Amino acid sequence: MPSILVLHGPNLNLLGQREPDVYGAITLDDINQQLVEAAAEMGIEISAFQSNQEGALIDALHQAEQNADGVIFNPAGYTHTSVALRDAVAAIEVPVVEVHISNVYAREEFRHKSLLSPVCMGKITGFGWRSYLLALYAFKEIVFE
Ligand code: DQA
Repeated sequence: MPSILVLHGPNLNLLGQREPDVYGAITLDDINQQLVEAAAEMGIEISAFQSNQEGALIDALHQAEQNADGVIFNPAGYTHTSVALRDAVAAIEVPVVEVHISNVYAREEFRHKSLLSPVCMGKITGFGWRSYLLALYAFKEIVFE
């Protein structure tokens, strides 16, 4: 069974209480649960990890090389700043899809730049928590078919 690591970056542990007008009322646990259920119907296994630490996210990407067939990654604020996370994505063979809950292009200009997009397989932004679900479909239909 193919397996996907869902990787959540800084402050996403606060979903549900954090800026609900931007990110919605859903919690991170609920997102992970929705993904586990949708993936089970597709015959895909999900593991999820969140960290507020850049190094822990880098370690998780390195480990994905051994234990995942794809990564759905919301790098959150690090999207716009982290050369080290970009290098980690570039260093692994496993395909990575970048996701954002909000439409980063409809927000402040500093969010328009992603250091990670050029090394990701693709990017989904602006569909609320369902951005993750759309990334899951992309793996099912495009990568695992
Ligand atoms: C985000 C967008 C980022 O700009 C922001 O820093 C986040 C969340 C999103 O999912 O919409 O923390 O990645």
